[in-house]
Amino acid sequence: MTSYDVTLERTDGPNRTLEVADDETVLDAAQRAGIRLPYDCRKGTCITCVGRLVGLEDGGSESETDETARPRDADAFTYRRTPRALTDGERADGYVLLCIAQPRTDCRIEVGPRVRAEVGDSPWS
Ligand code: FES
Repeated sequence: MTSYDVTLERTDGPNRTLEVADDETVLDAAQRAGIRLPYDCRKGTCITCVGRLVGLEDGGSESETDETARPRDADAFTYRRTPRALTDGERADGYVLLCIAQPRTDCRIEVGPRVRAEVGDSPWS
């Protein structure tokens, strides 16, 4: 089975790298590894689990840190169901719902309260 290395970056704590199977969500892999991430609905509607994609690591061609080159969630993930809590603009800015996102490449994701504060409340919760 294919798996991907997903590094969770926190502004206030150590980074952790997870191995996430291709049929697994980032949240499920984190829980399996004993890493606590916030969540609520687990359905892509409440935004509680949001993270932000900050880099792709596909064969050594790591993405630019330049804001204009920020990867989209679609560059790195497939979703189990529609991520209704995010607008198209937020997805284009790299925000990703970790409860339903399954990685398709090695990547780095910023998590924590700062990311959550950047995104408004979900219209679905
Ligand atoms: S836990 Fe609600 S959107 Fe992920």
